[in-house]
Amino acid sequence: MPTHPSISLAKSQLEAGGIVAIPTETVYGLAANALDPVAVAKIFEAKNRPFFDPLIVHVSAIAEIEKWTLSTHPKLLLLLKVFSPGPLTVLLPKNEKIPELVTSGLPTVGIRVPNHPLTLELLSSLDFPLCAPSANPFGYVSPTTAQHVADQLGDKIAGILDGGACSVGLESTIVGIENEQVTVFRLGGLSIEALEKVVGKVVVKIAQNSNPQAPGMLDAHYATRKPLIVGDIVSLVEKYKEEKLGLISFENAYQELPFFERKILSPEGSLTLAATGLFEAMRALDQSDVSMILAEKFPDEGLGRAINDRLKRASVK
Ligand code: TXA
Ligand code: MG
Repeated sequence: MPTHPSISLAKSQLEAGGIVAIPTETVYGLAANALDPVAVAKIFEAKNRPFFDPLIVHVSAIAEIEKWTLSTHPKLLLLLKVFSPGPLTVLLPKNEKIPELVTSGLPTVGIRVPNHPLTLELLSSLDFPLCAPSANPFGYVSPTTAQHVADQLGDKIAGILDGGACSVGLESTIVGIENEQVTVFRLGGLSIEALEKVVGKVVVKIAQNSNPQAPGMLDAHYATRKPLIVGDIVSLVEKYKEEKLGLISFENAYQELPFFERKILSPEGSLTLAATGLFEAMRALDQSDVSMILAEKFPDEGLGRAINDRLKRASVK
């Protein structure tokens, strides 16, 4: 499947009920007309995704959100104003125009304004919103380039709108209101610290296994095919010295240890940069000759928390 940068081609494919991979700042999405259940069903089929895992709806501007929702909350509106377009998804009560298939029967819809020029232009040109999960087979690492999508889903979809590499590299942060408090249901590309600067203390309620609020936050997500283990690198290397080891680390190259391949996500110590390269590193090691991937635990602050969340979900228990 060739990738292309043509908005008009993507538009016509989507209008014809096809599913098209689209670039966003977080990860590539697999998009369909959110108002057309037949088109939406193709997403679940292509990804092999269970129907109980709801999809996020993408719109071109905050003003569009009220077309698909019953109400908003002042704090969520404030967050949208500050962080949209950007890696923020809000959960709001949906109206009857959004099919049940999109929300897996939940009364709320996850909705966001993605920050990518091609996708914003595409959304503005369409007269329907796009629902889009990450464009990877269910359970695998999310794609951050058009090529990642082509490699895994190329023969199952109508097109791939190529917008280059994703600038954030982690999925959006999902936020809703529970008991009148701003509650984070998925850690992502927008940090807790950034949210709290705007709305004060937030509650973090991340599902470890399945959770009725966020059925998609299953434990075995983002997984590589090779075993991935998170922990103290020195002791893990000692334990698994018979294996051909690959490394994912923050700043430290562990030059003294016998790694076959190393992915040092940010030698300069930026968690934001590390986030950008995480999924690419997981994919590259998965496709390399290593037999096992060892990952460091990242600092528990800023985007480090979301990186740790993804590594933990990808790791063997
Ligand atoms: O950054 C992103 O959010 C990317 C890009 C493509 O926009 N999309 C993405 O979609 O990560 P996906 O399907 O991989 O993850 C969406 C998750 C679901 O698995 C579920 O946990 C949560 O969002 N979600 C969606 N709608 C929800 C709802 N109504 N209530 C609770 N959780 C919801
Ligand atoms: Mg996903």
